[in-house]
Amino acid sequence: MDIYEAIKKRHSVRSYLNKPIPADIISELESEISLCNDEGGLHIQLVTDEPEAFSGFMAHYGKFSGVKNYIALIGEKSSELDVKLGYYGERLAIKAQQLGLNTCWVAMSFSKRKSKCITESGEKLICVLSLGYGETQGTAHKSKPIEQLCNVKGDMPDWFRKGMECAALAPTAMNQQKFLFTLNGDRVSVKPTGGFYSKVDLGIVMYHFEIGSGKKLMKQP
Ligand SMILES: Cc1cc2nc3c(=O)[nH]c(=O)nc-3n(C[C@H](O)[C@H](O)[C@H](O)COP(=O)(O)O)c2cc1C
Repeated sequence: MDIYEAIKKRHSVRSYLNKPIPADIISELESEISLCNDEGGLHIQLVTDEPEAFSGFMAHYGKFSGVKNYIALIGEKSSELDVKLGYYGERLAIKAQQLGLNTCWVAMSFSKRKSKCITESGEKLICVLSLGYGETQGTAHKSKPIEQLCNVKGDMPDWFRKGMECAALAPTAMNQQKFLFTLNGDRVSVKPTGGFYSKVDLGIVMYHFEIGSGKKLMKQP
């Protein structure tokens, strides 16, 4: 599945089949996680065959079932951590989709205490991505029209529109889509417009915009 198809087909999936992830798929994911950790200076970890983090009230209340695998999004505390984990976490969600898996971003509906990942001193676990073979493929979220999500002086160039179309398909906390892209000349900027986890959302939409537009937004190391 190519990356654009993966972006279109990715929807949050909260119920998973009792089907293990094969070793070759795990190893592909592990390699992508290593690349993200190296590039972003992060400590993202894959946890497999571990039902505890999603066994309590929060997971049940959040309508999660059968979650036994997750990607823990962890990094050293800094003012940029949320954006970076949003960006690299979404890169991993799209990679998982390409590998035939389903995911859901989760900030609230799991137990941080019970999760089996290593958070070193000075680090923070921001969110996890549930991972596995979904009972369904999920459904497309309602989206604001792209004109409400960006500010463009003059005509909207094609590359920018494609970036915005991909950004509108991105997952955001409670589907709030509280972000605003601005095009000034050929300079793109984006900012959060408030809401919960809006810095994580910002990193996620930056990744989608880059794929659609072909323009880099994230600073490279
Ligand atoms: C940062 C973030 C945190 C989220 N936390 C939760 C959560 O705790 N529980 C949950 O059920 N969904 C959670 N979601 C999933 C969103 O509700 C979902 O992405 C949004 O409704 C859009 O739907 P889609 O992912 O199918 O496109 C979260 C999404 C993001 C981006």
